[in-house]
Order: sequence, then C-alpha cells, then structure tokens
Amino acid sequence: MSLAILYEYPETDEEGIKVTAQDMGIDLKYIPFRKISVLIGNGFFSFKSRMTDYGPLIEDVTAVLNRAQSKNRRLYSVSILEGLGKYVVNPQRTESICFSKLRTLFEFWKNEIPIPRTVYVPCDSHDLARGGVQIHNEEAVADLVQQDLGNGRIVIKPDAGTHGKKVHLAQDRDSLVEFLDETEPSIINPVGIVAQEFIEKWFYDLRIVVTKEYGNPPYCHPTALARAGLKDFRTNTYLGNMVFGVKLPLEVQKTAERAAEAIGKDDAWVLALDAMVNVGEDRFLDDEYVKSEFEKLAPVFQKVGDAKQDSQGKSRDFRAWSRSLETVFSAYMNEEAYTNIKRIIEESIERNKRRVLFHEANSCPEFWEQTRNIAGINLAISLLKCAKSVEGREPLPAVWNSFRGGHRER
Ligand SMILES: Nc1ncnc2c1ncn2[C@@H]1O[C@H](COP(=O)(O)OP(=O)(O)OP(=O)(O)O)[C@@H](O)[C@H]1O
Ligand SMILES: [Mg+2]
Repeated sequence: MSLAILYEYPETDEEGIKVTAQDMGIDLKYIPFRKISVLIGNGFFSFKSRMTDYGPLIEDVTAVLNRAQSKNRRLYSVSILEGLGKYVVNPQRTESICFSKLRTLFEFWKNEIPIPRTVYVPCDSHDLARGGVQIHNEEAVADLVQQDLGNGRIVIKPDAGTHGKKVHLAQDRDSLVEFLDETEPSIINPVGIVAQEFIEKWFYDLRIVVTKEYGNPPYCHPTALARAGLKDFRTNTYLGNMVFGVKLPLEVQKTAERAAEAIGKDDAWVLALDAMVNVGEDRFLDDEYVKSEFEKLAPVFQKVGDAKQDSQGKSRDFRAWSRSLETVFSAYMNEEAYTNIKRIIEESIERNKRRVLFHEANSCPEFWEQTRNIAGINLAISLLKCAKSVEGREPLPAVWNSFRGGHRER
C-alpha cells in the first residue's frame, strides 16, 4: 500500500510528518499542490507540473494526507483526490463540515452535543441596490440577533475564519451594530452573519484532539491543550496566549468522541475540537493571582517563541531543531508557575465538566510544536495510522480506476 502527502510548501507540521514516516518505515510519496495543472476530460485525467507527470504516482497511491494550507485550498485538493478515487485524511465530507463553524455546530446540535447558543442570519450587512445605492441591514440584523440572544454581550465571528481573526465581542447594541457594519462577504465569511452568546469562560479555552482509524472507534486523547491568558476574551494561541497540557475528565473525553464522530462519521480522520468551559461565577481564585503567575512564566514562554522562530536552524537540521524545541518546552513546563496554572485549569474543568461547550472542529490542526510538546501527542503518527487504516477498503468509485493508464490522454 502506498501513502502520499499533499502540500504547497513543507511547513513545520509537514516536515514533522515526513520524519515520523521515516521513523515508522513508511515511504511517503509527495504530491505538489501549487504549480501543477489538473486536467480532466471524458475518461481521462492528468496531474502535471511543468516538468513532471504525477499521474503514475497518483495511480499507485491508496491514501493521501491532505496538508493544503487553508480551508479553501483543502476543499479543492480533497475534491480532486477523492474524484481520482483516493482515500483522503481528512475526507471531503469532514473538510466540508469543518469549513463552516455553522455547519459544524449543526452537526453537534443534531447529535445533542452541548454548544453555545448560536444565531445565523442569511443576510449581509450591506446590499447594493440598482444604481449603486448601498442598503444598510445592520439594524435589522442586530434586531434579529438580539431577539434570540438578548441585549447582553454577543460574539460575532466569520463563519469560515481561523486564528481568531475578526472574532468580535460586542458589549452592547451600539457596538453590535458597529461590528455588523464592519462585516462584509469574504472568503472567510461567504454569506450572512454568525452570532453567538458570550460564554463566561474565565481565562482559558480547550483544544481537544480526537482521532479515528477506519474500523476502530474514535479515540479522545486524555490530555488537551488549554490556551490561556487574560489579555483578551480570545484565548487562542495564535494571539500569543500560553499553552498548558491538561487532563480531561472522562465524561468530557466521551462527549468529545461523540462530537468528533458527529463530524467525521465512520471514516478515518484526525480532528481537533475547540471547546469552552462555561464557568460563569465559578472563579475560585483571584484573577490578580492568576495574572501574577502568567507574568512569572512569560520570560520562559518567550524562549519557546524564540526557538520556534529559528527558521535557519529548522531548515538546516529539522530533527536537531525539533530537539532544541523540546528542551525549551520542557524548561517552560518545569516552571512552578506552569504547574500552578495547569492545576487551576484542571480543577476548573473538573468542577464544571458538565458545562463544557463545543463550538468548532479543526481538520488540519497545528501539532508539531505545541500539541506534541505540551500534550505529548504526535499527531503525525495518528495521521499516518489513519491513512494506513484504509488498506483493504473497497476502492472509491472513480472513472479512471476502472482502467490502468487512464492518466494519459487518449
Ligand atoms: N461565544 C464565545 N464566547 C466567548 N469566547 C469566545 C466565543 N467564541 C469564541 N471565543 C473566543 O475567541 C477565540 C477564537 O474563536 P474561534 O475559535 O471561534 O475563532 P477561530 O478564528 O476559529 O480561531 P482558531 O483558528 O484559533 O480556532 C476562541 O478561542 C475563544 O477563546
Ligand atoms: Mg477556533
């Protein structure tokens, strides 16, 4: 059985997958996804760069790790690969659900997974009428949103956004209308407005990894990443927040498995779920104390950031760079303040384990840096095992699977 990885540029995670494949004795083939052309016509296809015909390689491959670097690009690559009869991790159905926060929430909701109350209004903030006149819909949209979520704090977010971009917290009607006025249809928010109740989540949120090999039940990794900080209501790591490895109560692990299965169904997949703990008033320690612990940890966390930025070291010797990253991460995790904050988060989750709300599924999560070092999960192994697990499955229906050599124009 032959496995391949598809990407545009090898970023850290892709390098991580390649070295892990070497360690596992897997000969991982490479499919480029940038300066190539994909041709389809009646009964044939080709997949070529200017120099190389990748048709024979693709013909030989059973399963592909789809590492295209944006939600939109992954939707294209997975459609092409599945069209060519390949199993893809993650499959098109999963990618398509993960693309949209609203679609994901609907899958959770149908399966009775706890979610934040969410409103969708299929109307953009502005329309262009005949003659170029702009029509303003913000007040009407704000009415609809407040009718369902009340007059308190409301979160507005782009349906297909990532990295916390354009996720806004409206404190009142005026700021809600203002944020709505700023929204416009874009690649990360194709149609309408997604609004969500503000979850009282103290200073952290969770990223929970669930994987599933074909034929096996889903598996939730018992350690999750808690992304934490007190600077902004958005606690995701991209915004510079710190990360902690926290043990999940069994009950939360089980819900996470059901949540991920709602998205991935019975295929093979790797998903990272975003969840928030609705602690409400249950903040059993003073924020000032938590803040002072963060301050103690900041200089050591900065060293982690510096090590990550060492792009020369990374390209010179990826394995050596990975080892030096491990060293700075373990220095960070050995700090007393790290242990203190981790304990507070674990206690907070345990006390509120019935108030964990799931709000997003990520189909291509970062893993080589944070997830591997902090939570001890090497997702490269899971990805490769998932891809291998499809061995022996019926080939996917595809025109060109029915005849060899079909990649060449006839
Ligand atoms: N309803 C909410 N109530 C409170 N905080 C929220 C809510 N929705 C999002 N957040 C905060 O904002 C952050 C970013 O939100 P979200 O995950 O929806 O955006 P994103 O663009 O997908 O970010 P990422 O790619 O990092 O997951 C979350 O990590 C969370 O801390
Ligand atoms: Mg998110």
